[in-house]
Amino acid sequence: MTLTVVGAGYVGLVTAAVFSELGNKVFCVDVDKSKIESLKKGKMPFFEPSLPEYIQRNVTAKRLFFTATYAKAIPQSQAVFICVGTPPKNDGEADLSYLFAAVEETAKNLSGYTLITIKSTVPIGFENELENTVKKYAKNNFEFAASPEFLREGTAIEDTLHPDRIVIGTTSKRAQKVLLELHAPIPGERIICDTRSAQLIKYASNALLATKVSFANAIAAICEKIGADVQKVMEGVGADKRIGRSFLYPGVGYGGSCLPKDVLAFIAIGKHFNYDFDLLRTVDAINFGQIENFVNKIKIALGARSSEGRSLKDKTLGVLGLAFKPNTDDMREAPSVKIINRLLDLGAEVKAYDPQAMASAKKLLPNVKYAKDLKGAIKMADAMVVITEWREFSEMDLKTVKKLLKKPIIIDGRNIIDKEKALSLGFKYYGVGR
Ligand code: NAD
Ligand code: UGA
Repeated sequence: MTLTVVGAGYVGLVTAAVFSELGNKVFCVDVDKSKIESLKKGKMPFFEPSLPEYIQRNVTAKRLFFTATYAKAIPQSQAVFICVGTPPKNDGEADLSYLFAAVEETAKNLSGYTLITIKSTVPIGFENELENTVKKYAKNNFEFAASPEFLREGTAIEDTLHPDRIVIGTTSKRAQKVLLELHAPIPGERIICDTRSAQLIKYASNALLATKVSFANAIAAICEKIGADVQKVMEGVGADKRIGRSFLYPGVGYGGSCLPKDVLAFIAIGKHFNYDFDLLRTVDAINFGQIENFVNKIKIALGARSSEGRSLKDKTLGVLGLAFKPNTDDMREAPSVKIINRLLDLGAEVKAYDPQAMASAKKLLPNVKYAKDLKGAIKMADAMVVITEWREFSEMDLKTVKKLLKKPIIIDGRNIIDKEKALSLGFKYYGVGR
């Protein structure tokens, strides 16, 4: 089949790479001309494991094409996947301007029956507006479907090739057939439903993942008060197959381009349909509170008096990890940004290192000193602060760490350091909930 993927971001590039890998001819369209030019030269706009190899292989095989011109792609395509961003507006609602612009440009170039599938995460209730946008330019030779995306950054290719489920949100048999055929080589349960249910599956999934993380953070706070170990508590809780172990790791809070924004957007959707989603408001509040909890931990570890405005003046902190999670260079809603800005406000000097995210971080955190490696970040620092759980941080040799630091203090925002070992080597160790 010939397809167009609109939007060359995380979802668009991965979708284009995988559908072309499966033998389809795929055009990937983006309005960002410089991004398209770089992609044509084989340069990736972000770090995502395996993606460059998939793109290169399919470009070479002439199955994958990049263009900034809709007219070069849409008229030849039987199916179009819309994968543009739906970022949050100030009030938490999703900004749908990119979506409507992409649908309008698609509509202007339609030729013959085309299935327009929305993969972007889009709030419920815009079906008529989207249909009307297309009808201004095209007759009845199109249909809409929603097929939300569930990939995670860092494992995006693997998640797309081996998803738990593929949601096909359309009641049209013709549209279902197109999507079932396209996804035929990919395993995973098929959930076929109406468009609104499909969109709700996406929001409910991200909201439940966020709820699990905030729940784990709440349990960690209780553990700290009563002297229990959250690692053991969650191991015991997660051993129940009905609950499962995943997403029960406490830390500095959930970040990234989706969980925070989709929780806020879901609260806004609830409001729109007269439902007060107070459960999610609490999930968001707990997540917000994790930043200050962690900053307080750093202050306590360094003996700073909380009442003093610049209580971390003259302290140097070696910060490990900036990306919102490992295996990505994505800094969108990364907890590191809020934490580091607070530390700088309190007068600390911050030396940071991240294996992939430093180029993006420099734009957001210009007042940080960036080290070229882990050792450079912690050398002569008053404490080591772990914010992202990159494997190289959990594997570091604590004896070397002790020699490099000015004072043997570790504040571990992800519980990745061997606490017993650290204590036995004479470190002061501060984790989350243990
Ligand atoms: P992104 O910001 O990485 O990429 C969006 C791309 O769309 C950009 O390259 C932008 O230039 C392009 N674009 C904007 N307007 C356009 C237009 N009119 N025509 C063509 N291209 C246009 O976004 P993303 O992270 O890939 O997210 C896309 C959607 O998928 C969002 O709704 C998001 O919530 C959802 N989603 C994201 C992930 C993820 O892990 N990033 C996972 C699942 C779902
Ligand atoms: C998340 C979902 O997992 C994907 O299924 C979804 O498609 C995507 O959002 C989306 O809609 O964009 P992603 O943002 O890549 O994927 O990252 P996650 O792995 O979900 O992690 C999100 C945040 O939660 C990270 O900051 C991570 O550190 C944090 N987290 C995760 C915890 O603090 N504890 C956990 O136990 C798990």
